[in-house]
Parts: sequence; structure tokens; C-alpha cells
Amino acid sequence: MKILVTGGLGFIGSHTVVELQNKGHEVVIIDNCSNSSADVLDRITKITGKKPVFEQFDLREKNKVQDFFNRHDDINGVIHFAASKAVGESVENPLLYYENNLSTLVYILQQLTGKSSTANFIFSSSCTVYGQADELPITENAPVKEAESPYGNTKQIGEEIIRDTCKVASGLNAISLRYFNPIGAHPSSEIGELPIGVPQNLIPYITQTAIGLREQLSVFGDDYPTSDGTCIRDYIHVVDLAKAHVVALQRLLENKNASNYEVFNVGTGTGSTVLEVIQSFEKVSNQKLNYKIVGRREGDITAAYADTTKANNELGWKAKSSLDDSLGSAWKWEQKVRG
Ligand code: UFG
Repeated sequence: MKILVTGGLGFIGSHTVVELQNKGHEVVIIDNCSNSSADVLDRITKITGKKPVFEQFDLREKNKVQDFFNRHDDINGVIHFAASKAVGESVENPLLYYENNLSTLVYILQQLTGKSSTANFIFSSSCTVYGQADELPITENAPVKEAESPYGNTKQIGEEIIRDTCKVASGLNAISLRYFNPIGAHPSSEIGELPIGVPQNLIPYITQTAIGLREQLSVFGDDYPTSDGTCIRDYIHVVDLAKAHVVALQRLLENKNASNYEVFNVGTGTGSTVLEVIQSFEKVSNQKLNYKIVGRREGDITAAYADTTKANNELGWKAKSSLDDSLGSAWKWEQKVRG
């Protein structure tokens, strides 16, 4: 099948392109390279032996989106990753986030609903829509809480845009995947996470500290109501997450979806504290990490981990990698990138 992957050169996008190609799909990537590099294309090709088609343009340019779909009228499915994702930046520049993450979604959906054939669409959503959930693990039925940031709000509004469109567009089948915390890198170490500037997320901060790029990791708060006082998250290996996209797409391609808009949590189902992550990293890297406990980071929730029963049962998908495996792959990638 011919699958469009927007943001296909980014962290999760590139791993998903590899898994799609491994399943025999023909992939077309659109990426504006604002937070990715064109050489990821060569790295994907090195892993899979097949170069995906690549078009570099910005999806905010509506006429280019129209032109693309006019030229590619045989696309069987779209996986839409392209979006801005830095929480802090979204607070500083909300309109950039609303434009980047929502206008692009609207333009793509306009194309998908403007044709006579059916369209299959997978959306990158986030566990951020749950905020601090009242019950753990978090099921898909947990209420969506008021967003903590414009970034989080774009995921909530994005889901609403798709849900409302599916109500009236009978030919549109869509799935939103609510990711928990994606980490790790491809086992080949050809592709992985490459944050620009100082990393905001825990795992790249840890690996950059261990490699000597950062002096010390700050652990944000040890006075949360958890076993060791640090926050709990559900860290999922990016390859497991990529595979969830492939099975979700397959569900739509084979008309196995229960309704034309569905939502799935994608996590491991296991929560780990920040200190447990550090311990695991120290074990797999065989070295001590320089860290100190500092005050809480504003906006952090105490604990989030997924109930993955729905994805396990309906998609037949389950995360396979352990935290050790995921951190080991992130460390191997960091060493290769800086080597
Ligand atoms: N943390 C530290 N030190 C750091 C970085 C993070 O202690 O230098 C802690 C955080 O306080 C948190 C945990 O590590 O407890 C994970 O933090 P991340 O920033 O890696 O991940 P978040 O769960 O905060 O963020 C994720 C996604 C965002 C999304 C957000 C919504 O990365 O895209 O969930 O809650 F918006």
C-alpha cells in the first residue's frame, strides 16, 4: 500500500517509516526539516534497503498540500506526525503552535474528505490530554482535562477536529494514538532522537550528561506522593510505538475498525520513577550518572501510565521492550552520534 508519512524524518516518524517499509508498504514522506535532517532519509535507506519518496515542503502551505494530493491520488493511508512538540516553546509562542499543529491537520483532512474514495488517517496524539488522571493506570475513558500548555491543547483540539470530521465524512476512517513517553533508538543506531539545543526531556538529558555534553542532570522534585518521591511516567521504546502505528493502519486498511473514529493508548502499562530510570540507565551503561535533586518543574504531573488493554485486545499489539532495553538503545545511539 502507498502510505504518506508527514514528519517522516523526525524521531517517531523515521522509526515508523522503517516499520512500514519492513511490512512491504511504499512510503512517501513530507517533511519541512524544521526539526529533522534530510540525511535521515539515507539512514532509513541503509536500514531497509529501500529509499522512501521524499518531498520537502511546509504543510502550512495549503496550495502545496493540494498540489501534493493532486499528484498522488493513489495514497491508501496517511500517518500524520508533522507538528511542533516543545511544551515550553508553545507557552512562549502559542500562535505558532496553533498554526503549525492545527492548520496542517485541517488542510490534510480537507484533501482526504474531498475525494470519493475512502481515506485512512492516523493521528499522533499524546497522554497529555489526560493531564493528571484521577485513576491509574489511565484508560481511554479517562476524562480529557484542561490542557496545561498550548502544545497539549493542539493535541486535544486536533482530536476534536478529527472526531467532528469523522461524524460527517463517511469515507474517512481515523485513529488517534495517545502516546505515553517515547524513548530509545533503532537497534541499528542509524536513527534516534536528536534534540536541538538543551534537551527538555529526561532520556536525552541523561544520555547527554553521561557522554559529557551536560554537566549534571537535575531531577525535578523528590517530594511527590510516589514510592521514592519522583514523578512516574510510562516510557515506551520508539520501535514498539512505531509498530503500533503499523497495526493501527492495518486495522483501517482491512476495515476492521469498530467505528470510523477510534482512540488508543500506546504505552507499556508500567510506570517508572525518575530515580528508577536513572538506576536502570546506570546498570545498562555501567557507569554512575551525575545528578542532583532540585525543585519541581512547573506543569509536571505526578504520575501517568497507560492501561493498554484496548490496544492489546483490539490491535493485537503489545510493547515488547523493557526499560533496560530502551535505555540501552538510547545510550548506544548517543555514543554513535557523538563518536
Ligand atoms: N525530568 C527531570 N529532569 C529533566 C527532564 C525531565 O527530572 O531534565 C523529569 C520530569 O520532571 C518528569 C520526567 O522526567 O517527571 C519525564 O519528563 P519529560 O520531559 O521527559 O517528559 P514529560 O512526561 O514531561 O513530557 C511528555 C512529552 C511531552 C508532553 C508531556 C505531557 O515529552 O511531549 O509528556 O505531559 F507534552
